Amino acid sequence: MKIGVLGTGNIGGSLGQKWAKAGYEVKFGARNPADPKVTALLESGGATASAGSVEEAIAFGEVILIATPGGSVQAIVEEHGTTLNGKLIIDATNRMGEAEVSAVSSITQAAPNSPVFRAFNSLGWENFAEPVVGGTQADLFYCGPAEARAMVESLITAVGLHPVYVGGLEQVRLVDSLGLLWGALAYGQKRGRRLAFKLLAE
Ligand SMILES: NC(=O)c1ccc[n+]([C@@H]2O[C@H](COP(=O)([O-])OP(=O)(O)OC[C@H]3O[C@@H](n4cnc5c(N)ncnc54)[C@H](OP(=O)(O)O)[C@@H]3O)[C@@H](O)[C@H]2O)c1
Repeated sequence: MKIGVLGTGNIGGSLGQKWAKAGYEVKFGARNPADPKVTALLESGGATASAGSVEEAIAFGEVILIATPGGSVQAIVEEHGTTLNGKLIIDATNRMGEAEVSAVSSITQAAPNSPVFRAFNSLGWENFAEPVVGGTQADLFYCGPAEARAMVESLITAVGLHPVYVGGLEQVRLVDSLGLLWGALAYGQKRGRRLAFKLLAE
């Protein structure tokens, strides 16, 4: 499975590295692929990690993770819509303070044939880098089209998180609200960024 990871920061870097180490072929899409921080990512990602332009990463991936600043997504998907269209796209981006926190509307408009998922948006990146929090494996709540969810579940599992499917994209606000709750607890309540969620059920 080939994954194009747009963004080489906290989210793109930590998820892309994990997937590369798990054996997925990962191409990071960067504005400057020669940036030393991208070189460092490739060194720790191993033989299945590579880097190129944003366009090259999108062309490479069967799955595309968008992990750039929330405000940048519309322009990216408009510019690369033709290449993106039909690929499985995961939106991890947040526009905090906006009425619509996710970018799924822009993405589905630019790539109407793509299965689009909302995932990896609701916890701080440290909990993706180390998904056992306080001795318990963290859950990751996500949504998107049911028929394509198996691939996303395997990517969540490869990170070390336990996937919890919330439903189709109509549940995006529910998944976004968990990110807001995470921020309220981590910052508003000053509990710190090493916190996560767990669904309990019989
Ligand atoms: N940090 C978290 O804990 C967290 C948790 C959940 C979701 N998120 C969301 O995930 C996204 C990424 O967060 P982050 O913390 O990883 O940010 P970050 O560390 O600042 O990394 C952002 C990355 O996006 C790249 N980038 C910026 N503008 C771009 C553009 N126009 N085209 C292509 N690449 C561009 C940057 O490249 P350069 O190096 O060239 O600047 C950088 O590699 C954000 O939307 C954020 O809200 C973050």
